[in-house]
Amino acid sequence: MRRPVIAGNWKMFKTIAESVAFVNALKPKIRGANHCDIVVAPPYTALRAVADASGLDLAVAGQDVAWEKEGAFTGDVSAPMLRDAGCSHVIIGHSERRQLHGETDERVNLKIKAALAAGLLPIVCVGESLAERESNQTKEVLEKQFSKGLGGLTPQDFSRIIIAYEPVWAIGTGRTATPEIAAESHHFLRGLVVTKISGESAESVRILYGGSVKPDNIRGLMAQEDIDGALVGGASLSAESFAAIVGYNS
Ligand code: PGA
Repeated sequence: MRRPVIAGNWKMFKTIAESVAFVNALKPKIRGANHCDIVVAPPYTALRAVADASGLDLAVAGQDVAWEKEGAFTGDVSAPMLRDAGCSHVIIGHSERRQLHGETDERVNLKIKAALAAGLLPIVCVGESLAERESNQTKEVLEKQFSKGLGGLTPQDFSRIIIAYEPVWAIGTGRTATPEIAAESHHFLRGLVVTKISGESAESVRILYGGSVKPDNIRGLMAQEDIDGALVGGASLSAESFAAIVGYNS
């Protein structure tokens, strides 16, 4: 049995005070929800405050990480620093980093290794653009992102990795992939884990769906065999809608 993960990616939203208010509003709404891991990824400035306010109820993730531990890298934050700020997880290779900050699969790979070395659980994002989907390149793109981004990892490394399938055309557009479309890509990704890592890793790796997940579409997505959770952007910003997504099983 794979334990589901519901993760909220706040992107560049919320001050420290707003972040703490969110956690305090969310906690009573998710009391007793022990069917899944619940993760939030606030901006760097609010990590420590969210970790302190969350206690054991929520896990905290960074939204990106540097591949070096320390050094002359203005603006970057390293994996040990994320740990120090209270993080247990980190999002790596989000399509907004790929599109707006020149993130490459090679860098994704270095960042995953740095995160694992520091004891963080990487949530690694992959997904095709609209043009790639329309020209039937989805599988090719996923295969390339997987081979390069997740290359050189052992089954042991893989036991600490979470994959997020996020079709770029579904992010922030209100255009969710249908559960069937998402399931097809998830199935394909799990097959890549079988051939490139191990059958056991494929059985246990959690593959999340991301892209316009909302309280009214989460159930259909979670009903799919290969969908093990969600990475939620816009709908994770309000405690009400995030709690409703966490409560998909009720
Ligand atoms: P969205 O974002 O839910 O707002 O589409 C998802 C993501 O970017 O991870």
